[in-house]
Parts: sequence; structure tokens; C-alpha cells
Amino acid sequence: MLIRRPPEPPAREITDEQLFWNRRRFLGALGQGVGTLALAAATPGIAACATDEKLVQGDDKLTPWEDVTGYNNFYEFGTGKGDPKANAGSLRTRPWTVAVEGEVAKPATYAIDDLVRPFPAVERIYRHRCVEGWSMVVPWMGFPLGDLVRRLEPTSKAKFVEFTTLHDPVQMPGQRSGVLDWPYVEALRLDEAMHPLTLVVTGVYGRPLPNQNGAPLRIVIPWKYGFKGGKSIVRIRFTERQPATTWNVAAPDEYGFYANVNPEVDHPRWSQARERRVGELFRRKTLPFNGYAAEVASLYAGMDLRVHY
Ligand code: MTE
Repeated sequence: MLIRRPPEPPAREITDEQLFWNRRRFLGALGQGVGTLALAAATPGIAACATDEKLVQGDDKLTPWEDVTGYNNFYEFGTGKGDPKANAGSLRTRPWTVAVEGEVAKPATYAIDDLVRPFPAVERIYRHRCVEGWSMVVPWMGFPLGDLVRRLEPTSKAKFVEFTTLHDPVQMPGQRSGVLDWPYVEALRLDEAMHPLTLVVTGVYGRPLPNQNGAPLRIVIPWKYGFKGGKSIVRIRFTERQPATTWNVAAPDEYGFYANVNPEVDHPRWSQARERRVGELFRRKTLPFNGYAAEVASLYAGMDLRVHY
């Protein structure tokens, strides 16, 4: 993102994710367009899954598993798109704790399984747009971040939520380089964090999240560029002031705090008007707020989105 114009994603035919669609047809046959399916046996840590078909539109097709899990940005494991898959096997995701700090009634360090246990997993198929100009359509598994935030009880002073990735150069070889200031930090305004589209993600394609996608727990905000969604989170901190975030500190002219997908505001070194779906040949138009304007545009009423990019 910082160093050079990113490489193009691989263009090739979309393969059918046969198993996944078979499961969907099975759901359809049961008349469960929005339903619940016990996946406990097949998917440790994921008890049930409610599917919301509305979130896939037009000619969106799921990006194949091998691209979702093989074409990644996770600089802690290298800057190449294949590096995270090649190198993230060294990450141990259990035991894992998440420290909850700052302006919150219930600060504590939680074992990951205790933190996520109260929240039934849902499946959400989201468009996923990287600031570099590629995109995917991904069936994430997780639960609304807002449900967790409510349970943690932010104080009346809390205006922002900050997410910090694990800092461990032994397990994360990319952290032995100075390509970014470690640990990776991202943050949201509290109302963005509470929006029902914002997810804590623990799985993908009905399986536990692979390390290269941010296991055991990452954040996904579908109307923002992908870099806002920190991976492998170990700390959630509630703050009164806007936190400093990794990419914004590294290159403030290129990566704003808000990072809402916006085809009208170009990156200084390339246009954001179009995008290439990983696996497809031709570019498509990028949609305002990545296609989620109806749901989220009101969060930014009155703001100049050219200034707050
Ligand atoms: N989180 C951490 N800790 N380190 C990273 O390098 N890259 C970000 C984001 N989260 C990144 C990160 C970027 S630039 C993108 S586009 C998405 O992760 C990519 O998520 P994916 O690999 O699951 O598609």
C-alpha cells in the first residue's frame, strides 16, 4: 500500500464453491432464506449460522475460498499477497486473550472463548474493497461488534474504539522489518463500531478463520477500505480522543482516518473509481460506501467526505 502501486490480482475464471452452494441450496430447500443452521459438528467454535441473502446484490459472486485465503494483506507475515498464507502457520491462536481497556465499565482481560461465547455466529456475505483497487465477495462468520460493545458498557466519555493487533516478532516474521510501526492499530468512531453492519469476525466460508485472514478474531467494516479492519486483535480500547492509526500515521495524505469507500476521492497515486474483483478480468465501478450507502451514509451527514477521507 505504501511502497508502490500494488500488483493486479490474478484474473482467472471464477470457480464454483460447490460445497458452500450445496449448503445454501440445502438451506433454500428448508425454506430458511434467513435461518439458522447448526454447524457445530463441522465448525468448532461456530455454533449456529444465520444467513442474510439480501447483502449480495446484482452480479456479485462469492470469491473462491482459495483467493479469500490465499490473496491477503497481513504485513505481519510479509508484504506479498501470498506471504500471509505461506507464513501465518507460525501464529498460535490458542490460548489467546483480548484486553479491554479505557473508557469502559468492564475493563478486563478476556480469554477469547469467553469473549465470543455469548454471541451466536451469523453469516454475512459482504463486498470487501481494498484501498489498492481489488475487491472480493466474502461470506464472513461472526457477530455484530455493537453487541460486544454494549456488553462491555463504554462510559459516556467514550467516542472512539481502538483495535490493536498482536505484537510478537517471533510469531510474526514481518514485524522484524520496519515496513510499518508495530503493532498495527486501527480505530472507529463509536457510532461506526455500533453500526449493525460492523462485525467481529471469527470465521469464513463456515469454517474457523484461517490465520492469514486474522485469526482468531478480526474486525470487518464493509463500507470502508479493508485496512480499517485490523486482524488478530489482542486489545480493544475505548477512548475520548481519536486514536492514531497505523496507516494514517505512515502516510496521512494517502490513508485517512475514515477510509470510507468513495469512488469520487482518488488515492493520490491512483483512481478509486473502479475496482477489479479478484478472479475477474474486467474492472467494475466502485460504489459509494462500497454499495452500503443506504445503510451508513447517515453516519456522515454534514461531513465533507473529501476532507474526512
Ligand atoms: N491487519 C493487520 N494486523 N495487518 C495488516 O497488514 N492489512 C489490512 C487489513 N487488516 C492488515 C490488517 C488490509 S490493507 C486489508 S485490504 C485487509 O486486512 C485484508 O484482509 P484479507 O486479507 O482478509 O482480505
